[in-house]
Amino acid sequence: MQETKANDIRGTKAIYPGTFDPLTNGHLDLIARGAKIVDELVVAILRNSEKGAPLFTVPEREQMLREATAAMPNVSVATFDGLLVDFARSQGAKAVLRGIRAISDYEYEFQMAMMNRKLDPQLETLFMMPAEKYTYVSSRLIKGVFQLGGDVSSLVPPNVVERLKQKSGNGE
Ligand code: PNS
Repeated sequence: MQETKANDIRGTKAIYPGTFDPLTNGHLDLIARGAKIVDELVVAILRNSEKGAPLFTVPEREQMLREATAAMPNVSVATFDGLLVDFARSQGAKAVLRGIRAISDYEYEFQMAMMNRKLDPQLETLFMMPAEKYTYVSSRLIKGVFQLGGDVSSLVPPNVVERLKQKSGNGE
């Protein structure tokens, strides 16, 4: 039989890394899906993101994620900086979970997965697709639409809607 170089990740702990500025229903959908196929899922917020000035601080993002995932017993929230592969190793995680919404996500995700494999061949990347209704949702669009007065309440969790209102000085 042909020998495969795939890693055995059964019974695994996985990391779902990202910027989460802010958390969207698409992220949450993926977290729920991921939590059903791995034993433990650590949602990890990158602290030193190069994406420019964030809307929410890391502690704010962390709190929103904790609130939104409170009912998921095998999901925890953490923060990290430096290389994802180092953080995954420090957590004893064998896999990274990432979402792919459309073909446009593919190239960036492919490059990242291959680079992570180069850096740590033991770490597998798992891709999952969010529900179809969230395929166009991104944190960047949410921020832009909200800042221009658009309604994003069906696209982010209720606690994120509240925080967005507070940020814009519009919190009731
Ligand atoms: O969903 P995002 O915001 O695009 O997440 C990007 C993230 C955090 C997954 C990525 O930037 C990352 O893993 N950064 C850590 C630095 C790293 O490990 N770089 C080498 C892999 S390309």
